[in-house]
Amino acid sequence: MRTSEAIFAPIGVYDSGIGGLSVLRALREALPAESFVYVADNAHAPYGDRSAAFIETRATHISQFLVGGGVKALVLACNTASVVAAQHLRKLHGLPIVAMEPAIKPATQLTRSKVVLVLATTNTIHSPAVARLCHAYGQEVKVILQPCPGLADQVERGQFQSTRTRRLLDGFIRPGMAAGADTIVLGCTHYAFLAEEIALITGPSVTVVEPSGAIARQLARVLPNTPAPARTAATTYYTSGSAPALSAFLTAIGEPAEPVYTLPATR
Ligand code: DGL
Repeated sequence: MRTSEAIFAPIGVYDSGIGGLSVLRALREALPAESFVYVADNAHAPYGDRSAAFIETRATHISQFLVGGGVKALVLACNTASVVAAQHLRKLHGLPIVAMEPAIKPATQLTRSKVVLVLATTNTIHSPAVARLCHAYGQEVKVILQPCPGLADQVERGQFQSTRTRRLLDGFIRPGMAAGADTIVLGCTHYAFLAEEIALITGPSVTVVEPSGAIARQLARVLPNTPAPARTAATTYYTSGSAPALSAFLTAIGEPAEPVYTLPATR
C-alpha cells in the first residue's frame, strides 16, 4: 500500500457482537475524518464463557480478514478477545493494535470508599491480565471481581430493560455495593448499553467507569497519520450472523444507515 493510501485506509474494529459499537461511537466522535470497518462476530457471541482456543481462532480469522482488507490499525473493542488473544494478534500482524482491559487502574484512583466493583465476563475476570491489574493497583483498594454470565447475551438480544436483565444486574451489582463499592468498572463493552439500567440501581453516588473515551485517545496516539478533516468518512459493517438483524439494531440505536455485509466464512 502506498503512503497516501495508507493514510486514508480504514481502521478495523472488532467485537464478539454489538458491544463494540459503544467503542466505535467514541472512536468516530474523536476521529471524525477516519473511516472504520466494524466486524461483529454475532454468530459466535457471547465469548464470555467460551474456551480460550476458540476465541483465539475467531480473533485470528477476523483480524486476518481486516488486515487482508487493508486496515491501517486494529481496535479490539472487546475485553474478552483482548485478554485472550491480543498478544497472539500482535505477533501475527505488524500494524498498531489497540486492545482493552478493565479500567481497574483509573477506578482505584477514583474511589473514595476504597472499594471497587468490576463487572466483566467470566473469561475476563479469570484472566492473567486482570490478576496483574489487581496486583498492581489493588494493594490499598479492595477490588471485587464479579463475573456476569448471561449479561452480554441479554445485550445481544437487545434486551436492555427486560425483567431478566434487571434481575441479573441486581444480582451482580447489589452485593458489591453492600460491600462498600462506590466505583464500578464496566469491563465488557456490551455493558455500556446498560448504563441507564445500572444507574437506576446504583443512584448518583456511584461512579461508573466506561473506557471507550480512553480507547479513542489511545487510538489517536498510535495512528501513524491523521487525514484532513474535509474528507468523507464512512463506516462499513460485517457480521458472521444476520446482516438484516445487525442493520435493524444499528437503526434502533440511532446509527446512520450504512451497508452491513456478511463476513466470509473461515476457509
Ligand atoms: N463485549 C465483550 C467484552 O468486552 C464480550 C462479551 C461476550 O461476548 O461475552 O468482553
